This record gives sequence, C-alpha cells and structure tokens, in this order.
Amino acid sequence: MDKKVVELLNAQVNKEFFSAYLYLGISKFFTKQDLPGFASWYKVQAEEEQEHAMKIYDYLLDQDEDVSLDQIGAVNIDCKDALDAAKAADKHEHYITEEIVKIMDAAVEAKDYRTQLFLNWFITEQAEEERNSKDMIVKIEMLGNDKKNLYLLDKELGARK
Ligand SMILES: [Fe+2]
Ligand SMILES: [Fe+2]
Repeated sequence: MDKKVVELLNAQVNKEFFSAYLYLGISKFFTKQDLPGFASWYKVQAEEEQEHAMKIYDYLLDQDEDVSLDQIGAVNIDCKDALDAAKAADKHEHYITEEIVKIMDAAVEAKDYRTQLFLNWFITEQAEEERNSKDMIVKIEMLGNDKKNLYLLDKELGARK
C-alpha cells in the first residue's frame, strides 16, 4: 500500500479512539448534570467510535500493514451546558469528516481503489454523524437549553441502544 495512505489510516485509528474518548467525556458531563438519557446516548456514541477505529485497524492488518497504537490524547472538556456539549460534538464530527476526506484524497492520488471503496463507508457514516450532531443542537435549541426543559428529550435519548 502507498506509504502516505497507510500513515493517514494509522492516524485515523487514533482519531477514532480519541472520538470515543471525547464522547465519553461528554457522557460524563451529562451524568454529572443528572441527565442520564443524554449520558447514555453519548456513551453509545463512544462505543460506535471504537467500532470505527477497529474497522480501520482490521483493514490495515488485512492488507498486511502494521497498525501503530499511539497514545490517545487527553480529554479536558469544559462544557457549560447541554447546548455547549452538543456543539463541541458537532464541531468534532466536522473535523473528522475533513480528516476522512484527506485520506480519500491520498487514496485517489495513489490510485488505491480498494482503500477508496473501504473509505466510502466512512464518507456515508460522516454524513449521518453530522446530521445527528446537528439534530441534537436543533432539538436542544427548540426545547430551551434548560435542564427542566431537557427532561423529555433526556427520556427519548435514553432509549438509544
Ligand atoms: Fe467515527
Ligand atoms: Fe463520529
């Protein structure tokens, strides 16, 4: 495989684990806010991010490439409220989309069609992630960014498995 494509995929494994870590930080914030539905929703999100990381991990090993398991960055998330947390998640998803696009660009340049096919899933997934994170902001804004008003949304979000 092209060296740059491998390098970028390796870096993405780390970024997906960092995403999981970030969502865990957001989940913790909601637990402390006594909003268990939000907390559980973001915990499920954290699990999904680990699956993303493992997808790339498996792909690299399947291609007989090595995977570097680098240090995962610390999460120092300082949200003031639910809207703030939802915005942090949304910002992060947009960043991840840009990173996936960079890998795709490198795969196109290297004429690595297999990796392009592999990355298609992530391109589609990022569209969904951006839609979900935007939806969360819209819902919180609609209900009012106040714990009392978020009670019903908390119940709804707690249903996500
Ligand atoms: Fe992801
Ligand atoms: Fe994500």
